[in-house]
Amino acid sequence: MENTNNVPVHVSIIMDGNGRWAKEKDLDRAAGHIEGVESVRACTEAAVECGVRYLSLYAFSEENWGRPQEEVNALMELMFKSMMEELSNFLSNGIRFMVLGHRERLSDKLNAMIDDCMEKTRMNDRLTLIVFLSYSGKWDILQAAKKFAAEVLSHPEDSEKLMNMDVDGFDRYLVTDGIPDPDLIIRTSGEQRISNYLLWQGAYSELLFSDILWPDFRKQEFRSALQAYSKRDRRYGKVK
Ligand code: IPE
Ligand code: IPE
Ligand code: MG
Repeated sequence: MENTNNVPVHVSIIMDGNGRWAKEKDLDRAAGHIEGVESVRACTEAAVECGVRYLSLYAFSEENWGRPQEEVNALMELMFKSMMEELSNFLSNGIRFMVLGHRERLSDKLNAMIDDCMEKTRMNDRLTLIVFLSYSGKWDILQAAKKFAAEVLSHPEDSEKLMNMDVDGFDRYLVTDGIPDPDLIIRTSGEQRISNYLLWQGAYSELLFSDILWPDFRKQEFRSALQAYSKRDRRYGKVK
């Protein structure tokens, strides 16, 4: 639609502030997470409308497993329910859905739902929507290093070539293999930190910190973020 100038290919969001949103309204933290799903829907629509090709969302970190069991359970149930409800929407809107992260830690039931959504939407190409679940940047780099080491050990004839690998060559061991690095990382709720998100892939991402709590971050806020991004001057360490 509009915004053809300097539209980021990949927008990533650290969706933060659900708990505070609920607290402000004297509700349970879970109510904040439920309302946050509406923001996911709104931002996904806005991303399609603006011509963004990849939208990724930090939904649950490896560290978030340390929250009270009740909250973890509520979040996992919500993920399951949201995927079940959104599948038809992904199919009718050309959305390819992916979940990336430490999948072994998720329940069999949730993993089966994820596999189903990923398989059924695999050929869609209007927008790739990625949910990072049980993800952390350090974990990703470590699992990549382990895969690399295993490959060196199992292919000694290629070890010299592998040891000469460059930075781009390492990309394929990360869970984001094949996905362009985020151009823009947005964090909501006023916190100004990365919280172990895309540490490798975000090396040159533009960062945008918004004071708005995630459940209040809707289409207008998403569009404003893209507007702000369009004015950024990315230099990648070079002189322009
Ligand atoms: C983000 O909101 C959702 C997750 C991290 C799962 P929070 O739950 O972190 O909300 P605050 O930061 O406590 O307000
Ligand atoms: C970051 O939010 C993780 C997600 C949004 C999924 P947190 O609320 O867990 O981060 P901290 O604890 O404020 O750094
Ligand atoms: Mg938080």
